[in-house]
Amino acid sequence: MQKLVVGNLKMNMESVSQRDTYCKEFKEEFKDLKTDHVVALCPPNIYLEHFCKEFTHTPVIMGAQDCFWELYGSYTGNTSPKTIQSLGAEMVIVGHSERRKYNHETNEDIAQKVAISLRVGIMPIICVGYLDTEDEMESVRAQVNIIVDNFTTDDMENLVFAYEPMWAIGSGKTPTTDEIHTMIMLIRSIVSARHGKDVAENVAILYGGSVVAENVTEVCTNAYADGVLIGRASLSPSNFARIVRMLG
Ligand code: PGA
Repeated sequence: MQKLVVGNLKMNMESVSQRDTYCKEFKEEFKDLKTDHVVALCPPNIYLEHFCKEFTHTPVIMGAQDCFWELYGSYTGNTSPKTIQSLGAEMVIVGHSERRKYNHETNEDIAQKVAISLRVGIMPIICVGYLDTEDEMESVRAQVNIIVDNFTTDDMENLVFAYEPMWAIGSGKTPTTDEIHTMIMLIRSIVSARHGKDVAENVAILYGGSVVAENVTEVCTNAYADGVLIGRASLSPSNFARIVRMLG
């Protein structure tokens, strides 16, 4: 089964020379890697244009780490989803727990970002999962409900969920495969209640949080994730390539 493997490079490439080294090493690692899986990279938004150009003639898809909920206007410092789309990027991460935490983004903000991304034709990867102090089931339910209630059945085919418990991000700790599977099933059941079983079975649900080559097969096979969102391990192109190779 084809998986979606997304690297979220976060704010970790603080100089142009680091960016250039990364692109060079990534191309080197992936040039002979034959895979049926979809590989995507989400660099810092300021480097998105460069990455889009660098990877034009490769199968690697580009995505942004966030977008704003308007297309243009007086919104200093924000990035228009239209700009992201016009650069050639095909996806955007929205509602990452780091944005929920540090930028105080609400479920309503995130739903607006999903709406505008779908409108311009880029695929939103909607991160859900609880922040440290919340009840997990309840917060994931609320995060998914606002999406299933506000978007059509057709929209469900053009968006992706990513279950990412905040405590697992960057910590080296992961939930058990059973726990991941339970949350994936919870998301599917919420989608099913609103849009039907077929749509729920087909909606893509990724897992993110300390994914490495050693656990990716378990996450995708035993926990039935449709792919992974990788932070730290994607910062090393060779580790990233190992993860993709593990998926066969
Ligand atoms: P991590 O990050 O792989 O470093 O845990 C995942 C994410 O934040 O998307």
